[in-house]
Parts: sequence; C-alpha cells; structure tokens
Amino acid sequence: MKLADTKATLSFSNGSPSVELPVYQGSVGPDVVDIRKLYAQTGMFTYDPGFLSTAACQSAITYIDGDKGELLYRGYPIEQLATNCDFMETCHLLLYGNLPNAAGKAEFTRRVTQHTMVNEQMQFFLRGFRRDAHPMAIMTGLVGALSAFYHDSTDITNPEHRDISAIRLIAKMPTLVAMAYKYTVGQPYMYPKNELSYAGNFLHMMFATPCEPYVVNPVIERAMDRIFTLHADHEQNASTSTVRLCGSSGTNPFAAIAAGVACLWGPAHGGANEACLNMLEDIQKMGGISKVGEFMEKVKDKSSGVKLMGFGHRVYKNYDPRAKLMQETCKEVLAELGLENDPLFKLAMALEKIALEDDYFVQRKLYPNVDFYSGIVQRAIGIPVPLFTAIFALARTVGWIAQLNEMIGDPEYKIGRPRQLFTGSVKRDVAPLAQR
Ligand code: ACO
Repeated sequence: MKLADTKATLSFSNGSPSVELPVYQGSVGPDVVDIRKLYAQTGMFTYDPGFLSTAACQSAITYIDGDKGELLYRGYPIEQLATNCDFMETCHLLLYGNLPNAAGKAEFTRRVTQHTMVNEQMQFFLRGFRRDAHPMAIMTGLVGALSAFYHDSTDITNPEHRDISAIRLIAKMPTLVAMAYKYTVGQPYMYPKNELSYAGNFLHMMFATPCEPYVVNPVIERAMDRIFTLHADHEQNASTSTVRLCGSSGTNPFAAIAAGVACLWGPAHGGANEACLNMLEDIQKMGGISKVGEFMEKVKDKSSGVKLMGFGHRVYKNYDPRAKLMQETCKEVLAELGLENDPLFKLAMALEKIALEDDYFVQRKLYPNVDFYSGIVQRAIGIPVPLFTAIFALARTVGWIAQLNEMIGDPEYKIGRPRQLFTGSVKRDVAPLAQR
C-alpha cells in the first residue's frame, strides 16, 4: 500500500496523548486512515455500523465512483465491457486481471464448458425440496452442497484448488439455477449443451424440453449475457463482504459462495429486482399509470414503510450506469418480442420520470439502480419472478470468487473479526430458579 503525504492525528479531550495514524492512497478514490493499531495504542475501537466509512480490505478488482455514476472492472468502464466484450471475457478479466486475446478466450471458455455438468447425485438432493420452494432457498442448499461433491477443490489455501473451484462454480451455476427452475415447474432437467455460448446454454437448460428442438434467439442471448456482465461484480457490497468474511475463516469456496447467495437474497440487495417487479405489478393492479402519483405519495410518507424498489443505492448518488445499459437492453428485448407496449415497461418509465423530477428523490440523490429494468427484461424473456435473484447470484458468482481469491492471496489477510460497543448488562450473578 502506498503511504499518502498526509498523516491523521487523533486527539482526545481527556488529556490522553494523541496518536498519529498513517494514511494510505489508492490508485483512485478516497484515501484511507489506517486504524489497525488504534486498539493497541489507545484501547479504543472505532464504531461504524453499516460500514459507512470503513474500507474492510484493499482490492484491485472493481472501482465505483458513486458521484459520477462510474463503474470500472479492472479499470475498464462497464459501458465498454457490456458493448465490446461478452461474459466469458468479463469472467477472465475479473478472475485474472486481464482481458484475454482470442486464443485465451477460447481456452478459458473451453475450461468452463468442460465443467457445466453437475454430479448426477445432485438431482436426488434437489428432490428433498418442496416443489414450491423459493429458488434462492434451493440455491443456498445446492451451492453449499457442491462442497460435498467436489472434494478435490475445497482447500482454500491451495491456489490450484482455488482456480478449479472458480471454474467449477462459474460453469455449474447456470446448470443449478436451471435445475431449480425445472424442478419447480415439474419438467425434466436439460443437460448442458456445450456447443452453445454460456448465455445460450443457460437459455437452453431453462426453456428447452426433450420433446422438441429449442433454437436460441440471439437478441435474448445477448440480453442474458449483458445481464450477467452487468451483475458480475460490484466491489465490497453486502454479499461480497459476506463471502470474504465467511471465507476468511478458511472454509471451502463452495461454502463461502453459499453464504453470498444467502446474503444476496434480501430485498435491500439482490432481492430488489423481484421486489421491484412485484411493486410494478401491484401498481398495475391498482390502476396502472393513473395511480403513480398516489403511489409516490406513499413512498414519500415515511410512516407508510413503502419504498420505491429499484431506486437508491448506498454508493451511487447518480444514475447507476448499469441501469442505463439495462434500459437499452430492455427496449431491444421488448421490440424483439413485440412487447413495445408492455404496460409494466410504460409504468416503469412513468415512475422513473416522476422520481427524477421530484424533490424528495432529487434531494436524496435517489436514482434508478440496475434492478429497476432488469426485472422487466427477465419477465419478458419468460423467467419467473422468483428466479430473478438466483440469476443475479449466477452472475455475481465470478465476482464473489475473484474477491475471495484476492483476499486469500493477500499476505495481510486475517480472519475477519469485527469488534463491538457493548451496551448490555454489566457482570451480575445468576439467581437460583426459585428466586427469579
Ligand atoms: N424509496 C424511497 N426512499 C428511499 C429509497 C427508496 N427506494 N431509498 C432510500 N430512500 C430514502 C431513505 O428513506 C432516506 O431518507 P431520509 O434521509 O429522509 O431518512 C434516504 O433516502 C437515504 O437512504 P438510506 O436508506 O439511508 O440509504 P442506504 O444507503 O442505507 O440504502 C438502499 C440504500 C438499501 C439500496 C435503499 O436505497 C433501498 O432500500 N432501495 C430500495 C431497494 C433496492 O432497490 N435495492 C437494490 C440495491 S442495488 C443492488 O443490490 C443491485
């Protein structure tokens, strides 16, 4: 880490000696004050629930400038990656730090493709779930269960194990998500077809049946690939930090990724696209565009507990660049499928327009996030709403594993162990049961 010219001095009003804290500079973005020795020097912890001002690690993978609305994977703007590269190239970039050339891409794709099947035993494991189980409940189980099947890639301290588990996870997530879907609709599982692209293969496993040939629509394939690329990584968000914290204990990569899947499920994070689509459908049922004003009043009334789902972000205080790209894809997909007049899309555009002009949203810098449009795209493709978050998990797996591998490879890595400000009872004696 590079020391900045500035130093920070922390002084106390009670006469305790002040302490000098080193300040480090990243390649771009805010400097950080190094407080690692603070407890040893002062006996004090810092307090930052929700990590509003805390960098929990150093990372060279993804950079976000929330004020500018900029997202870079390994320095490359998301707009360029989404337009000029596909998901396999993006995976290579996130995992290994560089964009592959044609031969490198072919080799990486071949490696991933070789691992698309899952152990046949997985389907019996799946049978233990109720048919109406939420796909994310199934996914948390299935991903965790991978560690029971692939014993030869569970040693997180072994770089070869880390590499092969990365390839296996990227390759098998589409198969598992499609199996979770097929199980809930009672259709036979479709084996992967390795001549197809990553996105095309996923669509095949989702929508093909053994009864008739399935032809992948290139517009839908591109849209799926873009959804994967846009969701591939997003630096230290809740699920990625969960993966890092879980993996910091030395647990195997499949278990750490399962923890990420569980965290992603929440409506404030990956579950937002599902929640957003449900919100749009609810407004539609209430009367559609004519009810937008009434709905917005509820959103602005804090006592209602209603939020405009798909709006707001902890880091972006400007338009989420992924939302722009997703809006573009949304238009393409709806045009391809002859759904240009889709009422939910129109409703979404109306909500966005009002929100972007409304003082409540302007003052709080609340803009659409990627989930605002991704739900509409997925619904148009025919993906059931409860599966949206599982698809997000599929796409984010590469980011999770790249971040996990970066952490394990960092010589400064330690088990994550936050401290606390204790506010409970001080030491007291247990009274015998009869006297309580
Ligand atoms: N609708 C209405 N008001 C909102 C919204 C929203 N979607 N988001 C934030 N606000 C308000 C808050 O009530 C708060 O108002 P106040 O200052 O008057 O108290 C202010 O804006 C700041 O919001 P915070 O909740 O403090 O922001 P935080 O960074 O903690 O939360 C979050 C970010 C969780 C994403 C929030 O904006 C939200 O819940 N959005 C809806 C869910 C969503 O779309 N999540 C997807 C995130 S992106 C992703 O995971 C891919």
